[in-house]
Amino acid sequence: TPTRLDVVTLFPEYLQPLELSLIGRARQRGMLDVRVHELRTWTHDVHRTVDDSPYGGGPGMIMRPEPWGEAFDELVPEDGPRPRLIVPSPAGRPFTQRMATELAAEPWLMFACGRYEGIDQRVIDHARTRMEVTEVSLGDYVLFGGEVAVLVIVEAVARLIPGVLGNAASIVDESHSDGLLEAPMYTKPAEWRGLEVPEILLSGHHARIVRWKRDRALLRTAQERPDLLAALPSEFFDEYDRSV
Ligand code: ADE
Repeated sequence: TPTRLDVVTLFPEYLQPLELSLIGRARQRGMLDVRVHELRTWTHDVHRTVDDSPYGGGPGMIMRPEPWGEAFDELVPEDGPRPRLIVPSPAGRPFTQRMATELAAEPWLMFACGRYEGIDQRVIDHARTRMEVTEVSLGDYVLFGGEVAVLVIVEAVARLIPGVLGNAASIVDESHSDGLLEAPMYTKPAEWRGLEVPEILLSGHHARIVRWKRDRALLRTAQERPDLLAALPSEFFDEYDRSV
């Protein structure tokens, strides 16, 4: 059965990229079941109000809880299976390749896209009584809303679902799969505008090439992301020492 992805948003058009390219193809082939819902469906007043000013004062508007509550009631029936709810928020847990791997194993993910200054906290508290809820941050910066974050999370997760990506081998070696950045890559021609492909890659010495890639990955990680290097387990360096 396909992995089910529900997105509740004020702006369904924002999710249109999910119809394109590899995600669109995975949907057509029945590997992903993506359903985008407009939150205003669950309003009842003439203005279809979804927000109001914050209790306690402060700038901006907060999303009212009632439409969210009705959306979850309808999309997640009491007697059936429960999705894992992902709420994009700059106050959430940092999104990583590890989290993407974890989410790719779920049969059903639901995404709640906040806008304005955020969603009434009781929406999350109440949802937690019915399903597993994870607030997820893309990084330490602020977007207008959760829609773009959902595009990012769905893209990172979908390509880890078996069958969605053509070549599963490309997942094993890529940046962040082993905690390091990837070594630089080259293709033909061997010389271009006076710039040459590193000779070792043309040498055919498989074992040396593997070591070169590993060393360049380490160097690049040390230069660009010393925080990743510091987070590696000490066994990584023990193994490295033994290999040189
Ligand atoms: N919504 C607004 N900013 C965000 C961020 N940095 N990550 C996830 N969702 C967000």
